[in-house]
Amino acid sequence: MRVLVLGGDGFCGWPTSLYLSDRGHDITIADNLSRRKIDIELEVDSLTPIRPIGERLHALKEVSGKEIGFVNVDLATEYDRVVALLEELRPDAIVHFAEQRAAPYSMRTEKTKRYTVDNNVRATHNLLTALATTGIEASLVHLGTMGVYGYGWSGSAPIPEGYLTVKVPTPDGELEREILHPANPGSVYHLTKTLDQLMFSFYASNDRLRITDLHQGIVWGTQTEQTIKDERLINRFDYDGDYGTVLNRFLMQAAVGHPLTVHGTGGQTRAFIHIKDTVRCIELAIANPPEAGAKPLVRNQITETHRVLDLAKMIGDMTGTEIAYLPNPRREAEENELCVRNDQFLALGLKPTTLSEGLLEEVHEIASKYKDRADPAKIIARSVWRQGMETSADLLTELPADK
Ligand SMILES: NC(=O)c1ccc[n+]([C@@H]2O[C@H](COP(=O)([O-])OP(=O)(O)OC[C@H]3O[C@@H](n4cnc5c(N)ncnc54)[C@H](O)[C@@H]3O)[C@@H](O)[C@H]2O)c1
Repeated sequence: MRVLVLGGDGFCGWPTSLYLSDRGHDITIADNLSRRKIDIELEVDSLTPIRPIGERLHALKEVSGKEIGFVNVDLATEYDRVVALLEELRPDAIVHFAEQRAAPYSMRTEKTKRYTVDNNVRATHNLLTALATTGIEASLVHLGTMGVYGYGWSGSAPIPEGYLTVKVPTPDGELEREILHPANPGSVYHLTKTLDQLMFSFYASNDRLRITDLHQGIVWGTQTEQTIKDERLINRFDYDGDYGTVLNRFLMQAAVGHPLTVHGTGGQTRAFIHIKDTVRCIELAIANPPEAGAKPLVRNQITETHRVLDLAKMIGDMTGTEIAYLPNPRREAEENELCVRNDQFLALGLKPTTLSEGLLEEVHEIASKYKDRADPAKIIARSVWRQGMETSADLLTELPADK
C-alpha cells in the first residue's frame, strides 16, 4: 500500500514508518517538525540521541536499501499544500499522528492551550476536508487516546470500544441507541481528541470517509526491530515533566538515581501498550478498514492496565530506587478503576508485549545507556491544571557521578 504517515518524525510515527516500510509498504512522512521545536522551547532533549529527519532517512537507505519520502508541511495552517500532497501521492491509507500530544504541555499556559486546540483541531479538520474535496478514497487511521473516555466515569464497568448501547426513555417505551461513549476529557489535549471524534462521525456519515480511531493507551518502550538496527535510526525517549510518559519517566528516574515521582497517592490506573505493539496495531488497522458509509471504527489500542503506584513499586523493587510522593499537578480522581475491552486487536492477531518481558531491557539498553544526556532540572512536572496548584522542588540538582 501507499501510506502517508502524518507526524512520522514523532515517537510513534517514526517507528511506525520504519515498520510499515520494512513490511513492504511505500511510505511518505509528512511532518512540520513542531515536536523538535517544542524541545527547543522547553530547553529539553530526547534522552536518546535522535538524529535530524534527513539523517534518519539517509541512514535508513544505507541500512535497509529502503527509501521513505518526506514532506515538511503544517497540516493545521497549510491547507492548500495538504490538498496538493494528497492529489500528488494518492495514498491508499493515511495514518494521522500529527497532533500536539502532551496533556501537561496543553495545560502549561494560555498560549499552549490555544496552540493545542488550534493545531490539533485544525490539522484533523483540514485533513478531513481535503479528503472529502479531493475524493481520494484513502482510509484514515487516527491516533486517539484512552483519555477520551475519562478515568473512573464508568466505575468497574468495562470500557467498550468506542460505542455504548443506551436505553432512551420515550412516552412509548424504551428506545435502544448506540452512541459514542460520553466524552470525559481531563485536559485541553484530551479535549481536542474528543472534538476529533465528532468530526470523524460527521465526515464518515456525510462524505462516506473510511475512518478508524485508535484509542491508544500510554506508550512505553523505545525501540522496535527496525529502530534498533542503527543508532542513527533510534527512536525518541521523552523523560521531562511535560512530554515524558509515566512508565518511561520511572525507567529513566531509576537509571539516574532519582526518586520515582508518584503524583498524589499513585492510585490512578492507566492503560499501557509497548511501542512494538503500537506499530503492529497500525499495520492491522490499515489492513482492516471500515466500509465507506460505516460509522468510524473505534478500536482500543491497549494491552495492559496498571496502577501508577504498582508500576513505581515494580521498578523500585527491580532497581532499588525509592518512591517520592509529590503533589499532583493535575485535577483528577486520586484513584480509579480501569477495565478496558481490547478484543478487536487480539482477534486480529496482536500478541501483546508485556511489562514483565520488556522492562529490564529498557532500563539497561536505553535509560542507563543514555542517562548522562539527562537534565535533572527537567524531571519534575511543572505544568499545573489550575493556577495556584503546587509542584515539588527539584529532588536532584545534578546527576550522581557514580550512577
Ligand atoms: N505517546 C503516547 O503515549 C500516546 C498515547 C496515546 C495517544 N497518542 C497519540 O499518538 C499520536 C502520536 O504521539 P507521539 O507520542 O508520537 O507524539 P509526538 O509529539 O512524538 O509526534 C507527533 C508528530 O506530529 C508532528 N506534528 C504535530 N503537529 C503537526 C502539524 N500541525 N503538522 C504536521 N506535523 C505535526 C510533530 O512534529 C511530531 O513529529 C498523537 O496524536 C498522540 O495523541 C500517543
